[in-house]
Amino acid sequence: MGLENYHKYDAVIVGAGGAGLYAALELSRQGVNVAVVSKLYPTRSHTGAAQGGIGAALGNIAEDHPEWHMFDTVKGGDYLTDQDAARVLAEEAVLTVYDLEHMGLPFSRLENGKIAQRKFGGHTRNFGEGPVERACYAADRTGHMILQTLYQQCIKNNVTFFDEFHMTDLVMNGDTVCGIVAVSLYDSSVHTFHAKAVLFGSGGFGRMFSVTSNAHALTGDPVAICFRHGIPLEDMEFFQFHPTGIYKMGILLSEAARGEGAILRNKDGERFMERYAPTMLDLAPRDMISRYIYMEIRAGRGIEGKDYVHLDFTHIDPKIIEERLPDITDFVRVYMGIDPVKVPVPIQPTAHYAMGGIPTDLDGCVIKDPKNTPVPGAFAAGECACVSVHGANRLGTNSLVDILVFGRRMGIAGADYCRSAEWKPLPSDASDTTRAQIEAILANSSGQSAADIRRELQVEMMDKAGVFRTGEGLETVKKTVD
Ligand code: FUM
Repeated sequence: MGLENYHKYDAVIVGAGGAGLYAALELSRQGVNVAVVSKLYPTRSHTGAAQGGIGAALGNIAEDHPEWHMFDTVKGGDYLTDQDAARVLAEEAVLTVYDLEHMGLPFSRLENGKIAQRKFGGHTRNFGEGPVERACYAADRTGHMILQTLYQQCIKNNVTFFDEFHMTDLVMNGDTVCGIVAVSLYDSSVHTFHAKAVLFGSGGFGRMFSVTSNAHALTGDPVAICFRHGIPLEDMEFFQFHPTGIYKMGILLSEAARGEGAILRNKDGERFMERYAPTMLDLAPRDMISRYIYMEIRAGRGIEGKDYVHLDFTHIDPKIIEERLPDITDFVRVYMGIDPVKVPVPIQPTAHYAMGGIPTDLDGCVIKDPKNTPVPGAFAAGECACVSVHGANRLGTNSLVDILVFGRRMGIAGADYCRSAEWKPLPSDASDTTRAQIEAILANSSGQSAADIRRELQVEMMDKAGVFRTGEGLETVKKTVD
């Protein structure tokens, strides 16, 4: 089989969310010939679902310091966070927010014209004394605004985009990565991309759970493909559940809601977080709140005896809600048919974020062992990657910080690599596996439905590998998967 639809770029980026776009921008700024291959149209990437803000210790409302942000990141990660990575994240967050501001990102503003900031779960002043306003935001559309801003800059810098192309394989020459194979979703044509460097910014895999805030596209294929090519994965047991997903649907209601004063209540109307976290209350780290919600439900204090509790906005000035939380109030009106200004909203924890993924060093270079041995030509950043900056649990807003800080660093490291690396020949059978897979699917007219299998796996994962896990439950899931 030959190589039809052959493309050659110094660098190919898989994924057009914040990490991929920032990396593309850095590569293009340095004159590297770069293409972005994305399953979605870039401005529809899942970064757009990050609503509430990006954490950076600007101190625009109250005193704040990157050291405090670093401390919260390490503590929030249950002290399993890589502390060098947390330092980079907290320090470069400030520079990154100003870089975005200079690119034209329309942040919400304070009366004095500075970038507006608000409280978020786990963000504290002076090493845990109490909440601090650290989340910089554009209403509850922060992720959307980041996508628009970075995409415009990429277009300005002549980055080439292959929109609605689905990566199906990684191409290696010996130990070195030298390209990818992708299928056009428009006409199913198979395309082979030859590159010196492949950079992953392909997002997470929350769709393995039945209730998730993740978009349908977040199936984690590039992560699985790397694994199939012998790249180990790191910290895969750590998956974060966001406390406030719309009941049964999982659609995210930003933590910014609680940052603006919304309160969690059980069936008795009790603000139960007063019992569990008297200092941080509803702004305790999200793994703790998700656990406490389930403990309330298990103690029979779910609403109407069911598996949900309430997020109550009714005491907040409706003007603040409409101004600072316009999208999530719309979601509640559209998907639940209720008005959050008037009645409490049914919520339950929703599978939100993978802390684990493709292991990397601080510059996004993919590594394959504890000695940090690199996989030449491979880079990763953001949710698909694991630089271990979130430890066992990510702090709210640190996802946007991660994709931007480490996406940018990956772009810079990728550009250095492209300048010095030799071209490796692309194997002539590079696309054979993909073509064979497509032919097998088209030739298949009977057997089990893929959708049924997926549904069964999602429900098992939710029930037995979710917020509470037992050895017995995990063994059952393992059998189902096998
Ligand atoms: O609650 C939120 O707005 C989500 C933010 C995040 O996951 O960091």
